Amino acid sequence: MAKKNIVLIGFMGCGKTTVGKELAKKLNFYFLDIDYMIQKEENKSIEKIFEIFGEDYFRALEKEACYKVSNFKNYVISTGGGVIKDEENIINLKRNGVIVYLKATPQKIYENLKYDNKRPLLKDKDKFKTICDLLKQREDLYIKYADIVFDIEDNSPFVLAKNIKMIYNVYYNKK
Ligand code: S3P
Repeated sequence: MAKKNIVLIGFMGCGKTTVGKELAKKLNFYFLDIDYMIQKEENKSIEKIFEIFGEDYFRALEKEACYKVSNFKNYVISTGGGVIKDEENIINLKRNGVIVYLKATPQKIYENLKYDNKRPLLKDKDKFKTICDLLKQREDLYIKYADIVFDIEDNSPFVLAKNIKMIYNVYYNKK
């Protein structure tokens, strides 16, 4: 039976991919990571795409990917943290999808990303400050576009996936 997708949005390092994989397993859905899809299609890492072509080019690829997946069903889709910067992405993702925001504090995000060097937007910057600034710019959009919000703070990816599945089954488990 064709079922609505679950689309995970949220800041870098909030665990969208980890939770998404777990959730897909639990629901017996396919899993798709938009950044991974872009990397495969371009045959380059996200860092390289930013480095060679710049952010605008990456955003165009991201937009195209959101359009492509808008017809899918029975998917858990993990998005990049900046997907909310373009409303058209959300319109497409909502077409067949329930949007779930994984909400995290800057402290938690910093904790998860302090040793990471794969995020071009945080590279060679004061990481904590950049996280705070970007989150401040984006938080309202995450909230505005979300159908459901989950606080990641005290929950493991496993528990989060279990809770998301429960809500999805009660409210959205229809054609
Ligand atoms: C970005 C987040 C990244 C990736 C790119 C830009 C952002 O994805 O799409 O580096 O603008 O927040 P993750 O949220 O998976 O780190």
